[in-house]
Amino acid sequence: MEFKIGLLGLGTVGSGVYKIVTSRKQHIKQKTGFYPEIKKILVKHPDKPRNVNGIDEILTTDANEILCDSEISAIIEVMGGIDPAYDYVKKAIISKKHVITANKELIAKYGDELREMADENGVFLKFEASVAGAIPIIHQIERLKITDEINFVGGIINGTTNYILTQIIEKGMKYDEALASAQKRGYAESNPDYDIKGFDALYKLVILIKKAFDVDVSVNSIMRYGINEIKYDDIYYAGKWGYKIKPFAWAKYEKGNVYGSVEPVLIEANNILASVGDVNNAVILRGDGFKELIFIGKGAGQMPTGDSVVADLIDVLLNYDIKTNRTSKRILVFNGSFTDVFY
Ligand code: NDP
Ligand code: HSE
Repeated sequence: MEFKIGLLGLGTVGSGVYKIVTSRKQHIKQKTGFYPEIKKILVKHPDKPRNVNGIDEILTTDANEILCDSEISAIIEVMGGIDPAYDYVKKAIISKKHVITANKELIAKYGDELREMADENGVFLKFEASVAGAIPIIHQIERLKITDEINFVGGIINGTTNYILTQIIEKGMKYDEALASAQKRGYAESNPDYDIKGFDALYKLVILIKKAFDVDVSVNSIMRYGINEIKYDDIYYAGKWGYKIKPFAWAKYEKGNVYGSVEPVLIEANNILASVGDVNNAVILRGDGFKELIFIGKGAGQMPTGDSVVADLIDVLLNYDIKTNRTSKRILVFNGSFTDVFY
């Protein structure tokens, strides 16, 4: 049985999703019972050269070719930004299409409204890839919350800025060169100010706060500093005194209040977080029972993020009822092989 998908966006993440879905079709069928088929792909510049084969017939610049196609059961939104992604996602939900997105800004700003709409329409709204790239942190939080109270969430949740600082510290690169390299590798947002000034980490933190503490926090209520505040001298003296500067975001829940911030911090050179370099992310969770877990993995990039998006798709397929186009909303427990590190 085929399960038809509309892909909105064919940039870094969209290309990864397309490659994984097409190359792993047989595996996905074996696991879920459905052949995923990307029926149409929405792009902005159809003539742009792309490093993806077999797409010429299915590219479109008309979103309605996807949103109004009743054969398409799910959309994967990997365009980014709010306008027009917000309208497209709403339209998809109203048309009873499941939605998978990597768009942290959309979920941080409109997640509640979209979640409510998705519930009313009996469709999934999945956004694992919106936070921490390949790290399945949303699944982990959902799972841990069943048995425990989470009271802290935080860590290194922007890959681009971690990559830039790592290149400057370890390789002596200049800032502009390191940023250009992050962009070339597809790590940075289309407007890299989102990474550099901390907006990207802020959106992710808002999503984590909602997931971990069930608290709605406005994106404007959290203090935010970016790595643009850092000088070369800061990096030099931090190193001399035994620290590394890392982009950091954290929030704790205490007596009904949430405290948190997004800001670069000094981390002792022998702390495990100091060794999280390159484009890696690290997410720390603390809870009453499990005490502390740290998840480390690729925080951005085509294939790590593509994997995370497709994991959401598999989750939808595992719960998909062909007769009703409905899902049973079972929580899929991630049982992966990465190491839980304690410190
Ligand atoms: P890109 O800029 O590489 O790709 C965006 C894609 O969307 C392009 O194919 C572009 O078309 C298309 N697009 C943008 N606007 C429109 C529009 N108005 N109409 C039609 N098509 C449009 O972005 P990324 O793949 O890097 O990121 C996508 C999303 O995933 C963002 O929300 C980002 O935050 C998130 N994300 C990114 C990660 C990464 O590592 N890059 C990791 C995790 C999440 P065209 O190609 O024709 O220009
Ligand atoms: N620009 C983001 C980052 C992409 O560097 O972390 C992953 O969300």
